[in-house]
Amino acid sequence: MVGSVLMQRMAEEGDFAKIEPVFFTTSQAGQPGPAHLVGDNASIPALKSAYEVSELTEMDIVISCQGGDFTGEVYPKLRETGWNGYWIDAASKLRMKDDAVIVLDPVNRQVIDQALEDGVKTFVGGNCTVSLMLMAMGGLFREGLVDWTSAMTYQAASGGGARHMRELLNGMGVIHSSVAEELANPASVILDIDRKVTETIRGGLDTREFGVPLAGSLISYIDTQLDNFQSREEWKGQSETNKILGLQSNPVPVDGLCVRVGAMRCHSQALTVKLTRDVPLADIESILGEANDWVEVVANNRDDSMHKLSPAVVSGSMHVPVGRLRKMNMGPEYLSAFTVGDQLLWGAAEPLRRMLNIVIA
Ligand code: HSE
Repeated sequence: MVGSVLMQRMAEEGDFAKIEPVFFTTSQAGQPGPAHLVGDNASIPALKSAYEVSELTEMDIVISCQGGDFTGEVYPKLRETGWNGYWIDAASKLRMKDDAVIVLDPVNRQVIDQALEDGVKTFVGGNCTVSLMLMAMGGLFREGLVDWTSAMTYQAASGGGARHMRELLNGMGVIHSSVAEELANPASVILDIDRKVTETIRGGLDTREFGVPLAGSLISYIDTQLDNFQSREEWKGQSETNKILGLQSNPVPVDGLCVRVGAMRCHSQALTVKLTRDVPLADIESILGEANDWVEVVANNRDDSMHKLSPAVVSGSMHVPVGRLRKMNMGPEYLSAFTVGDQLLWGAAEPLRRMLNIVIA
């Protein structure tokens, strides 16, 4: 799915015209390549097997959206051949390696440029939640204003993959069907409907992908469990944020709980930021809003928050709104924020597309 979004974005931005693309696949070798994306007159060779390392060694740049297992299998073999091309991927496998840089250029262009100068050849997109948090809050980090931050997340089904999105939608449909008759009757009793819905959620849904029901519910744990009782998704918050920002020697504490909700492809996050000093709210808004071309400060009022700060509005869009900005009861150095971002765009495909453009510039 991330690969499809990446190709769509590359087609939209005319990226294919800047390169000589060769398309690889893990499952459809020999099938025709996506000529329609590359251009009307493009003649595209048939898809090659992504496991053919000898074919990959012919490439100057490899971009992969296959995920960690593929990277774990193919990347070491490719490097062992002495291949010195650029590897750009979205998997977590290589992210924390010393010789890899996590890419999010609107936030860490300096880190990327320095790495290119130093001869780094491995660039990895960050965890979606971390990248989206930094697209929204990057200004405060850049100004050294974040003493620590806590992110409580509301993560979309797409973070699990395409099959997870289908499971969510099917679940919604099954729940509705279980009470459709009663719903159509205004005289039916809502507590009876609720009882039936609860029964359906508990016993009537396909949960093969998520393991437990998501439709009509939420899942209070994402990814695997670590020894310190953080989930791996939560662990990434601090480790990846600081690696992206080049702050590993003096990391900013980042922690929180990661939760799956029934949104399709937008991750939302409620943030508490402990500022390093008391900064007026108007200054905070300017710093955040000027940090990159995609962040959008939403005025902290009911109407704007409801209409501009939700997965329903942000889905499919490159904008990363951040709102609910106010000083909290804990004191003038405590800031609340809420941000929403498309998990498949800035959270996955876009940093890779942009890294390709940086390499070929
Ligand atoms: N791990 C994320 C999620 C998606 O499950 O939502 C990938 O960054």
